Amino acid sequence: MSQLTGDQKPVVAVLTVADERSLFRGNRANFRDIVKMGREMDFPVYVVTTRDLKLTGNRVKGYFYSPEDKEWKRQWFPLPHVIYNRIPLREDEIKVAVRKKINECIKHSSIHIFNPYFFNKWRLFDWLKKNRSTRPLVPNTKRMRSSATLHAMLTQYRRLYLKPESGKAGKGIMLLQLESNDPEIYQLTIQGRRKKNVIYKTSKLPLIWKRIKMETAGVPYIMQEGIELSKYHDRHFDLRVLVQKSGKGVWTVTGVGARLAGPKRITTHVPQGGSVEDPEKMLIPAFGSEMTSILINRLKSNALLIARQIEKGSGYILGEMSMDLGVDTEGDMWFFEANAKPMKFDEPHIRKRSLERIFQFSQYLSRQTKE
Ligand SMILES: Nc1ncnc2c1ncn2[C@@H]1O[C@H](COP(=O)(O)OP(=O)(O)O)[C@@H](O)[C@H]1O
Ligand SMILES: [Mg+2]
Repeated sequence: MSQLTGDQKPVVAVLTVADERSLFRGNRANFRDIVKMGREMDFPVYVVTTRDLKLTGNRVKGYFYSPEDKEWKRQWFPLPHVIYNRIPLREDEIKVAVRKKINECIKHSSIHIFNPYFFNKWRLFDWLKKNRSTRPLVPNTKRMRSSATLHAMLTQYRRLYLKPESGKAGKGIMLLQLESNDPEIYQLTIQGRRKKNVIYKTSKLPLIWKRIKMETAGVPYIMQEGIELSKYHDRHFDLRVLVQKSGKGVWTVTGVGARLAGPKRITTHVPQGGSVEDPEKMLIPAFGSEMTSILINRLKSNALLIARQIEKGSGYILGEMSMDLGVDTEGDMWFFEANAKPMKFDEPHIRKRSLERIFQFSQYLSRQTKE
């Protein structure tokens, strides 16, 4: 592999997995934007699959988007200096051959890879609980293992979110609560497809446990204290922060967006009827403008603390992550999750900056020597 000299730009490869029908997996529009931005910034950049990435040769077959022909083309490229992992699915990441390839990249003497793996929800909470500054941001969270511990936690909080450890986009999330006018009755809200909730009620613990077990179908779940999120027009909202490392290798906040839940929905995801909103617009009616600017600053500084702690916990090089944070009715802030494969932010100013940061950080990373 060629050594970088002076201001020379590193070769950046966006890593994904091969797909039998469509060359490679992942969000095409996102990959196109990344490649386009790289090109504008003079970085040699291409998309490569774990199958094609052979670290022993001196060139690899990659994909390049040709705006003229409006299609992806396969051609030879030099080995990358930096690998940006965008393998889109956990199911692919856990395959032996894929893990092996990622591991080779991590161990390689000069090639740098960032965001090598997805996060596991449970581990995130574990890492954040270990640090004095992030601990207060974490809702009480436990692995859901028995009806006895579920019952104990429900008695303590009256509302619990049940979430798959490896979930995304609201899939499989349930809300378990004790009915407000009859605390003897358990109420389970299952966020179903096609924007409809299924509600199941019973006064018998074994029955509610059976139903939960049926819904979770053997997948590991966490149970979490339900936070009373602040609302806008009677719908709750949360905040999404994109945190990325700069060209100096320091964590910075690229942007903050808000997501407003659809009517009566238990999560704020857009596919679940949620909408993209401006954070100030959501916060000002609830907290006033002075408090809102305090909250937004606090949100940013908390996001940076969280990112540092997660990176420390993970033990890998991270260059970016997105986070879901909530503000409760008292103005206290809560961490819900962080994602190692941030979705595209639709807000245009955040989007542009986020693409630039990927390359600025790649440049920084390429100048570091690996241990
Ligand atoms: N403990 C909780 N209390 C209140 N709302 C929650 C809680 N956990 C999740 N939510 C709501 O559900 C959304 C999705 O939860 P999250 O953990 O981000 O799951 P996913 O990985 O499916 O996005 C959050 O953004 C928030 O609106
Ligand atoms: Mg989320």
